[in-house]
Amino acid sequence: MTGWTPDSMPDLTGKTAIVTGANSGIGLPTALELARHGARVVVAARSPEKGDAAVAEILRAVPGGQVEYGHLDLADLASVRRFAESVDKVDLLINNAGIGLISRRETKDGFEMQFGTNHLGHFALTGLLLPLLLAAPGARVVTVSSDAHKGGRIDFDNLALEHGYGRMSAYGRSKLANLLFTLELQRRAERAGADLTSVATHPGTTATNIVKLGPLQPLMSVFFKSAAAGAVPSLYAATSPDIRGGEFIGPRLKHFTPSARARSEEDAKRLWDVSTQLTGVRFDEIAYS
Ligand SMILES: NC(=O)c1ccc[n+]([C@@H]2O[C@H](COP(=O)([O-])OP(=O)(O)OC[C@H]3O[C@@H](n4cnc5c(N)ncnc54)[C@H](OP(=O)(O)O)[C@@H]3O)[C@@H](O)[C@H]2O)c1
Repeated sequence: MTGWTPDSMPDLTGKTAIVTGANSGIGLPTALELARHGARVVVAARSPEKGDAAVAEILRAVPGGQVEYGHLDLADLASVRRFAESVDKVDLLINNAGIGLISRRETKDGFEMQFGTNHLGHFALTGLLLPLLLAAPGARVVTVSSDAHKGGRIDFDNLALEHGYGRMSAYGRSKLANLLFTLELQRRAERAGADLTSVATHPGTTATNIVKLGPLQPLMSVFFKSAAAGAVPSLYAATSPDIRGGEFIGPRLKHFTPSARARSEEDAKRLWDVSTQLTGVRFDEIAYS
């Protein structure tokens, strides 16, 4: 798909969008463009200071926009529950936030941090918001994955990664989980006849805080594209009428094929069941009967 830019987006007046991690990187221009096109936007971020600053920045670019901060720490299931309880409407859920390439640590609930934040936090958030998503005509869930999912493997007997932890492999695993989740959500929504579209994206290598270049960090923007360019797949996935559920949209809006591992329905079901057990969040409305 060439020629599509955020200016091609439809008018989003009346829609409510939640963008996780909208205080920086790819999430900020994603939220800004959604607001520019008339959506009410919730900047869901773990830091109130950074969240408020992002709201102010968006409002400077979109005077009169409907933008608000919502406190959400995806590495804390109690925080995810509090955030979800504060939401009154959602048409577009952009599961964008992510953490990557860190040494091993754990979420508040004791999950390996990259899996816990990038996958389990978004799994729980989506499930808790499901009744509102199903009440919104044409609702979409966009989950930001990565080409890095290809390096990911899920060993269900070692989800905590207490042994064999690697920064990159743990990141790849979390991004693989994002894709397995996206595709399973789409299958479940379809089987239940629900008006819900689930799509995944890969932004392409983008100059943001998640990229770690060591001493070359100041040169990041020379090598990689801008956050605004990285937001284009998410914006297209969230708003284009041409999108079909289960698609994986990459840079230049190419339709990527997820790896064979990401397309495994068996792994997707197993991950879904494990994620339900770990988070306590069920998707009863679209459960297999
Ligand atoms: N940049 C790339 O090259 C690239 C490539 C492929 C995929 N991606 C994906 O793109 C998405 C956005 O990342 P980015 O590149 O824009 O990186 P970023 O600038 O580091 O943004 C990540 C966002 O996630 C937030 N976040 C991290 N942990 C959180 C938590 N526990 N609760 C709530 N929010 C949390 C961060 O908040 P703080 O500011 O508070 O840390 C930040 O707002 C991620 O899913 C990433 O995996 C990026």
